[in-house]
This record gives sequence, structure tokens and C-alpha cells, in this order.
Amino acid sequence: MARVAAGGVGASGEGVLILALETSCDETAAAVVDGGRVLSSIVSSQAELHERYGGVVPEIASRRHLELVAPVVREALEVADMPLDRVERVAVTQGPGLVGALLVGISAAKALAWARQLPFVPVDHLDGHVASLYLEPDPLEPPFLCLLASGGHTLLLAVRERGRSERIGTTLDDAAGEAFDKGARLLGLGYPGGAEIDRLAREGDREALSFPVARVPGLDFSFSGLKTALLYAVRDLGADEVETRKADLAASYQHAIVRALVQRLHQGAEQTGLERLAVVGGVAANSALRAALPDARFAPLALCTDNAAMIASAARFSPALDCPDYLALDAYASVS
Ligand code: KG4
Ligand code: ZN
Repeated sequence: MARVAAGGVGASGEGVLILALETSCDETAAAVVDGGRVLSSIVSSQAELHERYGGVVPEIASRRHLELVAPVVREALEVADMPLDRVERVAVTQGPGLVGALLVGISAAKALAWARQLPFVPVDHLDGHVASLYLEPDPLEPPFLCLLASGGHTLLLAVRERGRSERIGTTLDDAAGEAFDKGARLLGLGYPGGAEIDRLAREGDREALSFPVARVPGLDFSFSGLKTALLYAVRDLGADEVETRKADLAASYQHAIVRALVQRLHQGAEQTGLERLAVVGGVAANSALRAALPDARFAPLALCTDNAAMIASAARFSPALDCPDYLALDAYASVS
């Protein structure tokens, strides 16, 4: 998955003090990680800024990253009580994500690394989510089967060693987090919608309405039919009824997403023989999903949604580039 140029100073970043930046979407984040211990993890969310548009506006995101990146890095160093001189490597998300947003983090990281002639580690955002499981105090050791469910991706990954994973399932249309966000929008809830649906669903009956789980061959996912089913349900019930049954709608809709994810994880485990299950990404914060998989390992709540500690964690197992080999490094928008 990782897209790193050949060459560089190697992957032995395990005992190294890393400063990492993450700006792939609408969170400006910086973290300081020392040998797997998170010394600081600062996340400044732009969610409020994008809420009125019902989704992330790329140009607004880039401009906000530009304003926030220096103060967020400064705060990460302050909270970690680490002067910049002590940092040994700089890591940053290279992609996938919004290119304009990514470039702000990449440029800032290049400047920080180049000013101190430090090695530089470009990190794949998805590897970052998986690596949220490798941090102290209870790092997970592969092999395991990992569900990565976020706003942009839904992947089933066979993780046999750190820094290396095989994709065995993906979504054919919407990501699971996107399904939550679009569902929330149909129900008139705020953005991002996953946490809102999660909260509202606790007051509802998940069996109240019946929503379908898509039948897709193999280990892939599909959520667009579910979203359409909610659209029809909302239309058929009418505004007043939707208002009084909103919690039931949220609970039933969430239950369908959770069923689809759990089903695939169990099928994937059967097919790969990987018994240990793990869940990462924004949707891993979902309380119904956590309850449905009591034996699975979930990323710590603070590290489910985008953050830079997971990027630093992945950087420990990714090759670093020597100064100044990284100065021409570019962002990439989508998964290879
Ligand atoms: O990993 P993430 O921060 O960003 C991407 O890489 O996409 O994931 C954000 C997604 C959003 O779609 C959001 O609605 C969803 O994670 N999310 C949740 C919950 N908290 C965040 N979905 C369901 N339940 C939650 N509690
Ligand atoms: Zn993410």
C-alpha cells in the first residue's frame, strides 16, 4: 500500500523520536511519538467550518490547514515537552486525500525536516490507520484481519506483518463512514454524521425498520443501496413521522451498516484463517460496532478518527528518505 520512493535510510524508525503531521482531509494534526509512546497528539478539527456545506470543501480545507499547521506543530512539541532539536525524523501523510490539503502538511514537514537536515518519512494514510494499533500501552502484533472503515475507505486487510497488508475486500461504492454521513444528512443531523447517528441510535429501536445488507460477491462491500433505502423510507414516512421516529431510523440504519461490516469480517476470517480481528478508522468509534465485536481489537477512541500519532506510528515501519532526497516529493489523491 505504501508509495515510497526507492532508496533512503531504511525502516528502522522503531526507537526514534518522530514528529508527524497529518492534513489529508479536514483535520490539522501533529504528534510526537517516541518508540511507540505517544508524547502528544494534537488534532484541530475543521468540522464546524464545513458543516454548513454538508461536507468538506477542499479549497476551504487547504486554506485552514495553512493557518493551523504551524500552531498545531508548536503545540504538539510543547505538550510533548520536546524542543525541535530533539526530533530525529519528520513524518507526514503523502496520500490518499485532498491534494491541496495534503500539500500543506507535506510542505510544512519538508521545511521542518530540511531546516534540521532530518530524514523524512512519507506515510500512506491507510497504513497510518492500521498503525494506530501499534502504539503503546498495548500494541497489537500481526497477524490479524483488519477492517479499516473511515469516511473515505472501507477495506478488509490481511495484515501479516507491520507495514505490510494485503487488501482482500473493498467498497464498490460508498465508504461506511460516507454511508453514515449521507444517512445523517437525510435525517437532518449535523456533519460529520457518524457520531450523531451513533448518539441518536442509542435512544431508538434497531429492529423498528428493516434495511437491507447488500449482497455483493467476494469480500467487497456496498452501501449505496442502503442509503437509497433510507431515502425512500424518509420520503414514505413524511416529515412529521420522520421527526418522531428519528431515533428508530438512526438505530435501524446503523444496524444495517454494522451487520454488513461484521458479516464481512467473519467471512474474511474464515477465508484467510486469521482469527484475530481488528477495526480501525473513524467508524471504529461506533459504539454499536464495538458492541457487536466484543472480541475484536479496536483502535483507541482518540485514534479512530484522523490524527498524526497513527502517522508517526506507521513511520516507524516505513523507509525514511535522506535529506534532501524528499524535497521533490508529491502528494497523491487516491489509493493505488
Ligand atoms: O478516519 P476518519 O477520521 O477520516 C477518513 O480518513 O475518512 O473517518 C471519518 C468518518 C466520518 O465519515 C464519520 O462520520 C465517521 O468516521 N465516524 C463515525 C463515528 N465517528 C466518526 N461513524 C460511526 N460512528 C461513530 N461514532
Ligand atoms: Zn482517515
